[in-house]
Amino acid sequence: MANVLVVDTDVSERKMVSDILAAEGHSVFQAGSADQAIQQVEEYQPDVVLTDLKMPEKEGLALVEKLAARPEPSEVIVLTAFGSIETAVKAMRRGAYDYLNKPVEKDELLLVVERAAEKRALRQESRLLKQELARKSAAGLVAQSEAMRKILELVAKVAASDATVLILGESGTGKEVVARMIHQQSLRGARLMQAINCAAFPETLLESELFGYEKGTFTGAQSRKIGIIEAVSGSTLFLDEVADMSLGTQAKLLRVLQEKEIRRLGGVTNIPVDIRLIAATNKNLEEAMSAGAFRQDLFYRLSVIPIKIPPLRERREDIPALLRHFITQSGRPKILEPRALAVLTEYDWPGNVRELQSMIERMAVLSGGDRIRVEDLPLDLTERKKTPGAIVWELPEEGINLEKWEKDLLSQALEKSGGVMAAAARLLGISSRTFQYRANKFGLKGR
Ligand SMILES: Nc1ncnc2c1ncn2[C@@H]1O[C@H](COP(=O)(O)OP(=O)(O)OP(=O)(O)O)[C@@H](O)[C@H]1O
Ligand SMILES: [Mg+2]
Repeated sequence: MANVLVVDTDVSERKMVSDILAAEGHSVFQAGSADQAIQQVEEYQPDVVLTDLKMPEKEGLALVEKLAARPEPSEVIVLTAFGSIETAVKAMRRGAYDYLNKPVEKDELLLVVERAAEKRALRQESRLLKQELARKSAAGLVAQSEAMRKILELVAKVAASDATVLILGESGTGKEVVARMIHQQSLRGARLMQAINCAAFPETLLESELFGYEKGTFTGAQSRKIGIIEAVSGSTLFLDEVADMSLGTQAKLLRVLQEKEIRRLGGVTNIPVDIRLIAATNKNLEEAMSAGAFRQDLFYRLSVIPIKIPPLRERREDIPALLRHFITQSGRPKILEPRALAVLTEYDWPGNVRELQSMIERMAVLSGGDRIRVEDLPLDLTERKKTPGAIVWELPEEGINLEKWEKDLLSQALEKSGGVMAAAARLLGISSRTFQYRANKFGLKGR
């Protein structure tokens, strides 16, 4: 049996329809106006909304549109006076499932309501399947490090809300992947997320992409254009490179977030929109704000929930898993030799995960064997990592004192790097942490 909301300004008609449905075992709620209907829908999330369009036509159609734009929309059936097929067609274009002519016939009413409820159940099932799929695809996201696991936990939490998220991180760290995960795990996940790269458009073009325009607003505007924000209503908008937005466009975006409505360029009416915004940037927004290039009020609106993705060199635990992940994905399984793995784990990856991914893809094509050896790695990666001592130096007959030799190498490296531990560590092809540990052992000081 279904949850049905009956909307009609006329009490007796509303009651008649409600009684028929209730007698059949459906749970029935009633509303006497469009506003009340929206409230009830939010509260009870009915499977089916049965609405009369007798309220002023515009109001009735606006209600249909609003209901259809909700994240998990109810199926809407409109009741129309006999002969007003035109209105019924308009309603269906705005997302109604079906229409019934008045006076309502009992059997027809029950049949149409049942079918609508069935359709909604199918839709929900497919949404759940999609969420399941999204969770599985999240399983393809590598998160070995503590930092990434924390981010996944946060993703699951924020997905459940509609809060605006600001994703920060260097280029190639996975900002877009994280944005997609938030969207897919959210209630809006059944819809497509739209992404727009603010850096890819000059100012005026970005605005017409985002807000759309009315016919004749400027030369070339030969017909009305619906903007992305309006089109994506009910779903999620991903604003990439948001720091590259001009101050004027920032002001307009701020208004969208505050008022939850947009105005097309050259338009006179405000159009309500229901979007979830996820923004991302690899720039330092604090700096942009003090330089006057980014609005502070917009920053606060965007960063309700900030997610900072650390660069790969600060979460090296992810490197081996990422390598395996991309080697498997490349479809040419290869064994990564331990020495090669060591070099790759020590490398700083200025281009982060994207750099790692494209290196593996290149090697899948270029290196023929079934192994990835140090010699196969691109030169820039291995050059400063080679420890010539291990290859060229031969152990003298009388042997050496390894401790003394190690201390000597550590202090030489420190000297050469002006006492900077991280740099000294690079000279020896080991991590800063390892270097620190060993230097401590010998009482060597650096910074
Ligand atoms: N943790 C991860 N596991 C698996 N793949 C990842 C992970 N992080 C990033 N990737 C992959 O790395 C590539 C770069 O990620 P993405 O495009 O999300 O980065 P970005 O931060 O948006 O970069 P940019 O700032 O350059 O736009 C993508 O192909 C993505 O699938
Ligand atoms: Mg990106």
